[in-house]
Amino acid sequence: MSCPPEPVEQDGLAERLRAALGALTMEDDSQPKQNYAFWGTQPVAQFGEQPASAVEDGPIDTPKTVEEVRKEPYGLPQNFEWVTCNIDNDAELKEIYELLSAHYVEDDDNMFRFAYSKEFLRWALQPPGFKAVWHCGVRVSSTGRLVAFISGIPATIRVNGNTLSTVEINFLCVHKKLRHKRLAPVLIKEITRRVNQHDIWQAVYTAGLLLPKPVAECQYWHRSLNPKKLIGVGFSRLAPRMTMARTLKLYKLPDVPQTPGLRQMEAKDVPQVTQLLNSYLAGYSIAPHMSEEEVAHWLAFQTDVIYSYVVEGPGGKLTDLLSFYTLPSSVIGNEQYDSLKAAYMFYTVPGATPLPQLMNDALTLAHSTGHDVFNALDIFENGKILKDLKFGIGDGKLRYYLFNWRVAQDITPNKVGLVML
Ligand SMILES: CC(C)(COP(=O)(O)OP(=O)(O)OC[C@H]1O[C@@H](n2cnc3c(N)ncnc32)[C@H](O)[C@@H]1OP(=O)(O)O)[C@@H](O)C(=O)NCCC(=O)NCCS
Repeated sequence: MSCPPEPVEQDGLAERLRAALGALTMEDDSQPKQNYAFWGTQPVAQFGEQPASAVEDGPIDTPKTVEEVRKEPYGLPQNFEWVTCNIDNDAELKEIYELLSAHYVEDDDNMFRFAYSKEFLRWALQPPGFKAVWHCGVRVSSTGRLVAFISGIPATIRVNGNTLSTVEINFLCVHKKLRHKRLAPVLIKEITRRVNQHDIWQAVYTAGLLLPKPVAECQYWHRSLNPKKLIGVGFSRLAPRMTMARTLKLYKLPDVPQTPGLRQMEAKDVPQVTQLLNSYLAGYSIAPHMSEEEVAHWLAFQTDVIYSYVVEGPGGKLTDLLSFYTLPSSVIGNEQYDSLKAAYMFYTVPGATPLPQLMNDALTLAHSTGHDVFNALDIFENGKILKDLKFGIGDGKLRYYLFNWRVAQDITPNKVGLVML
């Protein structure tokens, strides 16, 4: 089911804002399907269960031990085999990169496709405590070609006061020629088995697709940084009665950030940033809890992967954090451009600086580092500020899911403090 983007009125400017670069959306189905042949059998909250208010947060399955976990991998069709991908091996990383570059998420109109860089994949797949067995691929036995992938990375996530050892599941991808053959459920069952073998029983994942059953439904917003190019690639269009000159003026940003003391984050900042971040995230219903090692990994500045900045006040005290990551998309079938460089808001903590100002600095920095568009979800406190910062609403949702964990109440976007890549 395709969901054409709606025009967005914004200071007299109507824009078509496409979901591809914002939400991992293949279809924006707002109603559940009649039957989920796979998800209906899994330990996930189901649509139409008993009233949500009657249950408490907790696991869905009866607890198991590692000894009870199936020892053998799940069966694959003939001529396919499992592979544990070694990200440290450049050739294997390249295989994942190529699979995703050609077959990962596209928008409904097939104009854009996410194009995670190799450096990004290395960053995303190898945080502290990562396990190679959770980088799970499928090869064609006869040719060795990688045709499917799914990954998990460890994360400590707090959900309504419960601290869970989880994995974040991401990069589920099946080669276009192998779609609709029920390979995705086998990948999901196999990664579950491999995670369970390490005594982990909960997972968190996001998707544009409506599956049983989201814990939160969030909305992407997009802020033009390079309107000329966005119009050129068909991401936005020039509004009626708007000239290109007026559009450029509307979206113009300062050359440099406005907050005194704002600078690139460095390794020495990790202890203070960890404190700042964890105490901020404690105010959200679903959010990670990060060790110093994890903060050092996730927030170490890396050009074209992750941009992180702090505000340093008197006496070297860090008062604020801002960060965004780079996720380009391939532009399909456009003669002028082959790629669009999008920045995505990552973890941003307003302390001494008001959030709108910090976000405007994020836009400024994203623009000056060559990003064409800045994407943010309506999570954290963003819902209150995005419109004023000239973000336009996207046309796709991003849904958050928990595996084997039930929440009594759905979580509203402004209580979500978790960003998944
Ligand atoms: C997502 C993808 C792997 C699904 O593969 P497929 O060949 O379309 O689907 P299959 O026939 O193998 O399996 C269908 C089952 O997988 C489920 N499924 C499809 N996409 C899913 C997703 N993103 N997350 C979880 N489950 C998903 C379907 O709901 C269905 O289960 P159901 O019968 O209970 O409804 C494939 O479409 C793909 O690679 N798409 C591009 C990348 C992408 O969108 N990745 C997901 C990002 S969230």
